[in-house]
Amino acid sequence: MTALLEAEGLARHYQVRKGSRLFSRPATLRAVDGVSFTLQPGRTLGLVGESGCGKTTTAKLVLGLLPLSAGEIRLQGETLPKAGSTRWRELRRTMQMVYQDPLAALDRRIAVGRQVMEPLAIHTIGTPAERRDKALAILESVGLQAHHFARYPHELSGGQRQRIVLARALILSPRLLVCDEPISALDVSIQAQVVNLLLALQAKMGLAYLFISHDLRMVRQVSHEVAVMYLGRIVEQGDPDRLFAAPAHPYTRALVSAIPVATRKGRQRLILKGDPPNPIDVPSGCAFHERCPIAVARCRAETPLLRPMADGRHVACHLAA
Ligand SMILES: Nc1ncnc2c1ncn2[C@@H]1O[C@H](COP(=O)(O)OP(=O)(O)OP(=O)(O)O)[C@@H](O)[C@H]1O
Ligand SMILES: [Mg+2]
Repeated sequence: MTALLEAEGLARHYQVRKGSRLFSRPATLRAVDGVSFTLQPGRTLGLVGESGCGKTTTAKLVLGLLPLSAGEIRLQGETLPKAGSTRWRELRRTMQMVYQDPLAALDRRIAVGRQVMEPLAIHTIGTPAERRDKALAILESVGLQAHHFARYPHELSGGQRQRIVLARALILSPRLLVCDEPISALDVSIQAQVVNLLLALQAKMGLAYLFISHDLRMVRQVSHEVAVMYLGRIVEQGDPDRLFAAPAHPYTRALVSAIPVATRKGRQRLILKGDPPNPIDVPSGCAFHERCPIAVARCRAETPLLRPMADGRHVACHLAA
């Protein structure tokens, strides 16, 4: 089976200035620094990690919305060409993005039905009547009705708006949805509904998801595989149940122990020391060593590579067995 998406060594570096304004000097900020993964059709890769670790940057690199500093993206075996080229536009149809805030993603002045049809118009697909029929069918598949077609974004609930955003993402029949915190702006009671809708759409259309969320329980529920990022790199990747039940990387362990558990009292929480380091000043050796409870001398000197473990997961830690 050809992989739907292959990301190889993705990097995004920014040239910034560090220090006070008077004495600042140029520095490199490594937002994403060598991220690789493969996504099969119909599967979900969950991407987790603290704020600023490079999740959104990775998502934008995958879609070609940011230029790569290094690396390569292949879509069904074909290298993604330069953004803006004709072929990129064609391939881009197979990948759509769903952002966190549906209100920001929609135009308040335009009825939602027209916004759902818009991608078809842009790609000059179908007659106006066909576009309308398609939009109505898509609205139904995301759990909305025909009467929503003429409504405006402010006349809908948050959950309904996110369904409109999904409808618009789906109308070009993509193979991959990149979902960046798709539910975190929604009311808790609505989150599960939208997640269930995503799962139902995946089953029906064979969609693949790159699913970014701070909600580790949600990520565990929806993902076939999970990648944990720290300072622009993947530090652990593998089966969600194994990874969350028995994290192999000390960073994953700390993330997982911070998940609130209502039923199990007295569970020890590993609170991470300090804030994540600045991606301008990534520590030598293992980037996590300054916050790691088990770091040894080798961790300060030598950068651990992501390596396969006996159970199939991949871990970037010298001490993982
Ligand atoms: N245009 C830019 N110029 C300089 N630095 C940037 C730029 N965009 C992002 N960064 C930096 O890159 C790093 C990764 O940012 P990114 O938005 O990918 O994080 P994230 O994992 O999505 O965080 P969050 O969970 O808060 O959404 C951060 O340190 C951020 O400050
Ligand atoms: Mg982000």
